[in-house]
Amino acid sequence: MGNYWKVAGSEVNDQLYVNDLKEQYSSGKLADASEVETEISKVKYPEFLYRTKAEEAGLYNNHANPDHVKNDKGHLGDPTFKNLFKAGLKIEKFDLSPNLGTEIDGVQLSELDDAGKNDLALYLETRGLAVFRNQDFRDKGPAFAKNFGKYFGPLHIHPVAYSAKDHPELFVTFRKAGGPSRWDLQFKHQTDGVRWHSDVSFEEYPSSFSFFVALEAPPSGGDTVFVDLREAYNRLSPPLQKFFETLTAVHSNEYQQKGAALRSQLAKVKETSYSEHPLVRTHPVTGQKSLFFSRGFIQKIKGVKESESAFILNFLEDHCLNNPEIQVRANHRGTDSRSVIAWDNRFLAHTAILDFLNHETTARHHYRVTVLGEKPYLEEKKVEDSDSDGEDKHPRAY
Ligand SMILES: [Fe+2]
Repeated sequence: MGNYWKVAGSEVNDQLYVNDLKEQYSSGKLADASEVETEISKVKYPEFLYRTKAEEAGLYNNHANPDHVKNDKGHLGDPTFKNLFKAGLKIEKFDLSPNLGTEIDGVQLSELDDAGKNDLALYLETRGLAVFRNQDFRDKGPAFAKNFGKYFGPLHIHPVAYSAKDHPELFVTFRKAGGPSRWDLQFKHQTDGVRWHSDVSFEEYPSSFSFFVALEAPPSGGDTVFVDLREAYNRLSPPLQKFFETLTAVHSNEYQQKGAALRSQLAKVKETSYSEHPLVRTHPVTGQKSLFFSRGFIQKIKGVKESESAFILNFLEDHCLNNPEIQVRANHRGTDSRSVIAWDNRFLAHTAILDFLNHETTARHHYRVTVLGEKPYLEEKKVEDSDSDGEDKHPRAY
């Protein structure tokens, strides 16, 4: 049996493809890292489009976060979320699905006090994600964003991505404005741009929360789709749940690093990460189990034969990623989007949607505050599972 499992990016091990890419970069057909220099004058928020300079290359490392299980702010959240949805505010909420994701208008994230942030943590840990409309976040500047994020835990420094100037903790994702030539380049070698992942799962201490702040967005499209990996776990039969609980996956950013090098993009963190994480993990606050299926970063299942690893991963891809019943789509609502999408990476995977590339559009430009969480673990019992009267401290309802 061949290896049916193709990790997104594994084509950079294909010498013919790599040679073709090199030729395109050198001939200017495909933009390399220097494209930022030409785009920076066109974007509305140039301070959030900073290319790593030579003096910063290899300067950073990410750190351990061993106390996150007990420090997660969701432990302090109020299950009624009264500090997030304060009485007297005019708040509109719309659930994207019964179990996953909610759009919220009327809550200003920048004005939350500590109790409000604790509720926000618990809210994301139950609803999975929230799309906050009409935020002033993007105009508060990078230092504000960092302080906001640090409340929830240490911030991740992305190895190769663009960042905010002088603020390497702010990850920037940037896609140039659409147009027919953009479509041609993107889809020359592939039929889609879907890249499911959980943010930075290649780290020993991957992300708990991501706050994704829109700077510019296309008039329509460029959405982010999310999948609920709790529900993906819950739908499995008990024998398969038990089997998957015995497995460990190897996550790595190897292909991301190689791709960046091909584009002459300097790495802030040079070392490639290889981390082993349980395929089923327990949430430190809700105690719920979920699959930890970060498709783009998982290289293999540890300790089994190659064909067996491929068999398991292909099953999971079909089970998790081909089921719209457990997915929702978060959008930006137009070019003047002031949306902030926040989510819990521990039981969600997501992908950007590149459906705008054959339209004349504005850029898709965001920054992300990425909070480091705990080292993933599998445990039968919740860490802080009950009050003395035996009642669950936190609601198990989604
Ligand atoms: Fe992501």
